[in-house]
Amino acid sequence: MRAVVVTRPGDASVLEVAEVRLAGPGAGELQIDVVAAGVNRADVSQREGRYPSPPGVPEWPGLEVSGIVSAIGPAAERTADDRGSTGPGAAGTGAPGTGAPGFAVGDHVCALLGGGGYAERVVVPVGQVLPVPRGVDLVDAAGLVEVVATVWSNVFMLAGLAAGETLLVHGGSSGIGTMAIQLGHALGARVAVTARSAAKLEACRELGADILIDYTHDDFVERVNDEAGGADVILDVVGGDYLDRNVRALATNGRIANIASMGGAEARLDLGALMRKRGTIRSTSLRARPAAEKAEIIQSVRENVWPLLESGAVRPLIAARFPLAEASAAHRLMESSDHIGKILLLV
Ligand SMILES: NC(=O)c1ccc[n+]([C@@H]2O[C@H](COP(=O)([O-])OP(=O)(O)OC[C@H]3O[C@@H](n4cnc5c(N)ncnc54)[C@H](OP(=O)(O)O)[C@@H]3O)[C@@H](O)[C@H]2O)c1
Repeated sequence: MRAVVVTRPGDASVLEVAEVRLAGPGAGELQIDVVAAGVNRADVSQREGRYPSPPGVPEWPGLEVSGIVSAIGPAAERTADDRGSTGPGAAGTGAPGTGAPGFAVGDHVCALLGGGGYAERVVVPVGQVLPVPRGVDLVDAAGLVEVVATVWSNVFMLAGLAAGETLLVHGGSSGIGTMAIQLGHALGARVAVTARSAAKLEACRELGADILIDYTHDDFVERVNDEAGGADVILDVVGGDYLDRNVRALATNGRIANIASMGGAEARLDLGALMRKRGTIRSTSLRARPAAEKAEIIQSVRENVWPLLESGAVRPLIAARFPLAEASAAHRLMESSDHIGKILLLV
């Protein structure tokens, strides 16, 4: 089959389509014929040689896909009791006794991967697969799972954002940010965002953001303290000198959920300030989590976020779609940070 491979670590030009081999599904795995793959910042780091695929996962990039189930390994089929709904976009609701979702050949699905999504086929543990939500386009569903699972697990499962609280989202126009705004807004939080332009902030406002901060000339610490009395939860992708500023922007009992360090991995922290706020800082990587934890997150996403997608309260925001062979152009767009929302590759 064809996949986009990293020929050597480097800039976007090192991505090329090549023939690769992929084994069929083993126990508890599904094979999916890929329709579209989501592009993530982590893929850029992988291309540069800084973030290799974990062991047991194909070495070509791609953390999420949408597509059609084409083969099923042992113990991953849908059982007779599990056929509550059938057909495209309506996979089963759970294999009895296992808590794992069951699927059949032909189901329209989207999946969270450790790597290997820029390809015609993927093989993935069944616990990392979700049915395409009713009403969501099969292609656009490729941009859902990584951002939904990341935002849900960090902002809601770990940081416990509640209705009536304030959520500060850095990088509001990113793939991650556009989902965090929508989920925060849909679940009753007040949402503050940072971004670098008026056009990006306007897009954030349309998604439900209440406090719009252009970080190129506004101080987010001042704005969030003045307008919300501090943030209860901060979703941070910047790190570096934002760590200390995030602590100053926290409300009492506030929680910082750090998921990246685009502004630097080393930071100064005033522990006294954190203590006075009774604040918490957590940092996680979804890709590095064991399969069982990923399955738990996917199950929680299915229960809590899928209904919001099916009601239309939350939607995938797609900035651009490129043919698989133009993966280099997709990476250049991501590195420009000119996009708003998700970038997809069409397989
Ligand atoms: N830990 C995890 O499990 C996990 C999972 C998924 C994603 N992530 C991380 O989350 C981040 C967002 O991912 P994505 O795929 O959504 O990326 P993306 O769409 O490319 O967005 C990146 C955003 O970061 C902002 N940004 C970049 N450098 C910045 C800086 N120095 N200061 C302030 N803002 C900056 C840019 O916004 P402006 O144009 O407004 O500056 C841009 O919108 C990435 O770093 C990614 O690796 C982590």
